[in-house]
Amino acid sequence: MKHNFGAGPCILPKEVFQEASEAVIDFNNTGLSILEISHRSKEFEQVVIEAEALVRELLQVPDDYSVLFLQGGATQQFAMVPMNILPEGGKAAYLDTGVWATKAAKEASKLGTVEVVASSSDKNYNYIPKDFSVPADATYFHYTSNNTIYGTEVFEKPQVDIPTVVDMSSDILSRVINVADHDIIYAGAQKNMGAAGVTLVIVKNSILGTSGRNLPSIFDYQSHAKAGSMFNTPPVFSIYVSMLNLRWLKAKGGVSVIEQENIIKARTLYEEIDRNPLFKGTANEEDRSRMNVTFVMDTPEQEAAFLELAKKRGLVGIKGHRSVGGFRASIYNALSITSINALVDAMKEFEELSK
Ligand SMILES: Cc1ncc(COP(=O)(O)O)c(C=O)c1O
Repeated sequence: MKHNFGAGPCILPKEVFQEASEAVIDFNNTGLSILEISHRSKEFEQVVIEAEALVRELLQVPDDYSVLFLQGGATQQFAMVPMNILPEGGKAAYLDTGVWATKAAKEASKLGTVEVVASSSDKNYNYIPKDFSVPADATYFHYTSNNTIYGTEVFEKPQVDIPTVVDMSSDILSRVINVADHDIIYAGAQKNMGAAGVTLVIVKNSILGTSGRNLPSIFDYQSHAKAGSMFNTPPVFSIYVSMLNLRWLKAKGGVSVIEQENIIKARTLYEEIDRNPLFKGTANEEDRSRMNVTFVMDTPEQEAAFLELAKKRGLVGIKGHRSVGGFRASIYNALSITSINALVDAMKEFEELSK
C-alpha cells in the first residue's frame, strides 16, 4: 500500500478515483466518455450545477457571492485579482508569508502599487506575522492562508478593515471558514478539491468590475459569472472530479467533520515530531499548518537514511521543498489516519534503528 503525502497534485479518495475512471469509459450511462461529451450537454450542465451547489452548501457561501470554476491555476488569480478590483494607479496591501504570497504581490505590482505590510522572510517564513496594519488608502488586503512550502497556516482572518482576498489553495475545504470575511477566495483545486486544471473562485458580487479597467473578457470575473463558468470550454474532467470529491466530503458529514479529523491527524504527527529526538519541526508552534507538516533532521545523512526507510514503508512524497529541506508531509482531507500512523511508525522504527 502506498501512502501519498505529496503536496499537490495530491491524494483524493479511492472512491473518487474509481468513479472518475468509470466515467472515462461511460459517463452516467450515456455511452460516452466524460472526456468526449459536450460541455453544453444537459448531463454536464448538471455536473457544474451540482458542483457549485456543493461548494455553496459545504462552505455556506452567502447568496451575494458568485462561485466560479476557472482555469489557469491560482497563479492566474495572482493577476486576475488586481485586474478586477485594483483601479489604475491604486494601491494594494500584501502579507508576505512565502513564495506564493511573494508571487501574488509581484503580479499585483505590475498593475498598481503594492505595499508589503509585513513579511516573515527574515526567518525563512517559519511564522505568520501578526502585528501589522494596512494603509488606509489600500483598495484591498491579500494573504495566503496556508503556506504549502513552509508549513504555516493562518487560522484567523487578520483584523483589517478593507476588502480582503485570500489564496486558500492548500487549505480550502479543510476547516470551517466564514466566507463573508472575504471579498475573494481562490484556490487551485489540486490539493483539497479535485484534479489539477480547475480553480475555484468565490467572489462577492458587489466587488465585480470595481477596477474600472477595460479587461479582456477571459480575465474578467463578470464574463464567467454571467456565463455560469461556461464562458468558454471549461475543464470538464477536472470539474467532474471536483464534484465527485465534494460529494464525498458531504457524505462524510461536511467541512466541520473533516476539520476534526484534520486536527487529530496533524496533532498525531506533530506529537511524534516533538517526542522523537531525531526530528524537529520547522514552523513556529502556534502557526503550524494542519495541511503541510514540515520537519528536518540534524544531518543530510540521517535524512537520506530516513527517506530510504520511508520508501520501503510505502510513504511517498515526503521529501521537503528545496527551500526548507528535510521533509514535508502533506496531509490533505483524503489522507487517512492510517497513513499518518504509518509515518509515525516509520519515525519510531528509525529511532530504534539509530540506537
Ligand atoms: C498556496 C499556493 N498558492 C498558489 C499556488 C500555485 O498554484 P497553481 O499551480 O494552481 O497556479 C500553490 C501551488 O502549490 C500554492 O500552494
